[in-house]
Amino acid sequence: MAEPSSDRILVTGALGQIGTDLVEALRIRYGDDSVIASDVREVPGHSLLESGPFRLLSVVDGDGMDSVVREEEVGEIYHLAAILSAAGEKKPELCQRVNVGGTITVLEVAKEHGLRVFSPSSIAVFGPDTPRTAPQVTPLNPTTNYGRTKVTGEVMALNYWKQYGVDARGIRYPGLISWKSPAGGGTTDYAVEIFHAALNEGHYDCFVGSDTRLPMMYIDDAIRATMELMDAPAESIGTSRGGYNVSGMSFTAGELADAISERLDGFTCDFKPDERQQYADSWPGDIDDSAAREDWDWKAEYDLGRMVDEMLDRLSNQS
Ligand SMILES: NC(=O)c1ccc[n+]([C@@H]2O[C@H](COP(=O)([O-])OP(=O)(O)OC[C@H]3O[C@@H](n4cnc5c(N)ncnc54)[C@H](O)[C@@H]3O)[C@@H](O)[C@H]2O)c1
Repeated sequence: MAEPSSDRILVTGALGQIGTDLVEALRIRYGDDSVIASDVREVPGHSLLESGPFRLLSVVDGDGMDSVVREEEVGEIYHLAAILSAAGEKKPELCQRVNVGGTITVLEVAKEHGLRVFSPSSIAVFGPDTPRTAPQVTPLNPTTNYGRTKVTGEVMALNYWKQYGVDARGIRYPGLISWKSPAGGGTTDYAVEIFHAALNEGHYDCFVGSDTRLPMMYIDDAIRATMELMDAPAESIGTSRGGYNVSGMSFTAGELADAISERLDGFTCDFKPDERQQYADSWPGDIDDSAAREDWDWKAEYDLGRMVDEMLDRLSNQS
């Protein structure tokens, strides 16, 4: 395997929910010019287009990815491009092509050029047979297409490490709650949408039932987890490298609505489950993240109350 050409960073799917925050954090740490944002689309006015280099790039385009890596002297890829759960169930072939095909593109380019890779997994790898508190090591039998693509991604990351020495690492992100950009078509989007609706309309129709409990994480914890995992020395990363469990907080949709009502007079929430309820029901309510704690000292900082305070404060000051 070739030596990495440089330490410039390429981020795929950069204009999505996580990329918006992650690219900003990486640019603060490594310098604007060292972090190349890329996506299959351009979003007019997006802050990342102004703050540093941007390349239009589809992750299913292997030649295009190879050219960008050579031209930009990339040494590391944060691979965020994906089709998320709710969107993926509507377009399963696209989900397979982007999530599995895109990850193969990234791992192949990494093998060729000696790059390090961050490629996130999801709590969607779990299924109805997972214990309510999901262990790190457990049979992975997801019911969604999206979940199956994420299991494949984890297996590929481990295999490329074992077979070719590609240093690929991943995290099973819980539902992520952030304020800078909209959620991108996942089942946990209600935990983001509810804040916008609460502040703009004083009411939210939640698409899962009030007693639906899912693992969630505030974006600042997720970005810190990502950077801490990538900072960890290679020898401390174990066989969970394809998808470390990370725990943030866990709450029901009703508890989230109550926490917002306590802080926002007159806010009301109705619960009207749609097809996304079944995806939520197939996932665990809590996460056992002892492997991440042991291997790279992971510890979340945000609980429900702190996250709700922060979201309301940030969004109120933004508008
Ligand atoms: N947000 C969450 O709650 C969450 C939870 C678990 C895992 N994840 C994982 O984290 C990663 C990032 O998620 P996100 O929430 O930022 O998603 P998102 O949907 O907000 O953003 C994904 C981005 O990928 C881009 N994209 C789609 N197809 C592409 C292609 N062919 N080539 C290049 N870019 C393409 C989209 O334009 C979009 O900007 C994904 O792997 C996702 O599965 C997210």
